Amino acid sequence: MAPEATATAAARVMARLAVLGGISEEAGRLTRPVLSEAMRRANAVVVDWMRAAGMAVRQDNIGNLLGRYPAARPAARTLLLGSHLDTVRDAGRFDGPLGVLIGLAAVEVLAGQGTHLPFAVEVLAFADEEGLRYHSAYLGSKVVAGRFDPSDLDLVDADGITLAAAIRAAGGDPGALPGDRRAGDDLLGYCEVHIEQGPVLEARDLPVGVVSAIAGQSRVEVTFAGQAGHAGTVPMAGRQDALCAAAAFILAVEARARQQAGLVATVGQVAVQPGASNVIPGQVVLSLDVRHAEDARRRAACRLLAAQAARIGRARGVTPTWRVLQESPAVACAPALSGVLADAVAARGYPPLYLPSGAGHDAVVMAGITPVAVLFVRCRGGLSHQPAESASPDDVAVALAVLLAFLQLLAGQETAAP
Ligand code: GLV
Ligand code: MN
Ligand code: MN
Repeated sequence: MAPEATATAAARVMARLAVLGGISEEAGRLTRPVLSEAMRRANAVVVDWMRAAGMAVRQDNIGNLLGRYPAARPAARTLLLGSHLDTVRDAGRFDGPLGVLIGLAAVEVLAGQGTHLPFAVEVLAFADEEGLRYHSAYLGSKVVAGRFDPSDLDLVDADGITLAAAIRAAGGDPGALPGDRRAGDDLLGYCEVHIEQGPVLEARDLPVGVVSAIAGQSRVEVTFAGQAGHAGTVPMAGRQDALCAAAAFILAVEARARQQAGLVATVGQVAVQPGASNVIPGQVVLSLDVRHAEDARRRAACRLLAAQAARIGRARGVTPTWRVLQESPAVACAPALSGVLADAVAARGYPPLYLPSGAGHDAVVMAGITPVAVLFVRCRGGLSHQPAESASPDDVAVALAVLLAFLQLLAGQETAAP
């Protein structure tokens, strides 16, 4: 494809990112949780774009979109492309939608040329990767990969709405989720394009890179239950202040992660009850996110932090409760498929740099049913999970060109296969 044509297609991707970036549950900032009204609107827009590109589209019961562009011949295998459409709170517009829209742009190029490959291309737009609403990530890809845990239907959001009720309210059937599993037998692989969300490519002056492995993560809900009381009358010595215990714990989390190379640990959410300026906090619920490229080290860090919470609780007369919401192991990307992606990067004139991902991606779950490869796109200032998140139109054009080269290389392999 001529460079001007790729630039035009990339400009369309940028314009569509802006459209999706304006579809939010919150005025003035981008927040799109799973099964929300904003997700319904975002899906409707993407369905229109997919159909216009000649794809047959369906939405499954959790709200994943699956757009299919047929192969040149029947009984061919299928390559999956995609990423997610849900976001964190006050998000950037690239994390997730970029992978969906570049996959769609690649199909538009094929359709524009009247080309069909020796495999079908399916673009997936997952309904939940971030776990914003139910604090358990990858709900969308787990359904597709047949890894969905039915007990997750009882998860409740901040308004007390269960996942099952949210699925029903959006027109889905929670009982039908097992049927949404995508069997892996006909799959060639899953390739996800994603903004890097870190500083490595920028530091190396490269527009794209190939992900070698994705770090595992633990998400834990930690509750400190103390004793609420009057801020003016209860002496300092006798207090069982849940927020003071939580504060000590949060600093302990930071100190622990600073001590160990490769460990990152974050408390991103704190809810204080009853939450009044003249009441001693009686209860605090906080989120803990712990990651390391090596699962054993991540688990050891979690054990240590649980013990720390218990120690802090004992010293302050506050009871901690430790509830693991999610454990996902580190996942290596598939060497062969990633090698084709690296060849595609080289074919476009860039040295193929392999780099690990500290962020989670739908590829983690998809690796359970098919080989996965992830292409990272340079991220301005390494900033992500916030509104300044950005990739340049030029880099998006490179990513699209690489993805098209990847499809060509795979087509050559598939045609040569016996
Ligand atoms: C997803 O963005 C994650 O890694 O939390
Ligand atoms: Mn993402
Ligand atoms: Mn994210």
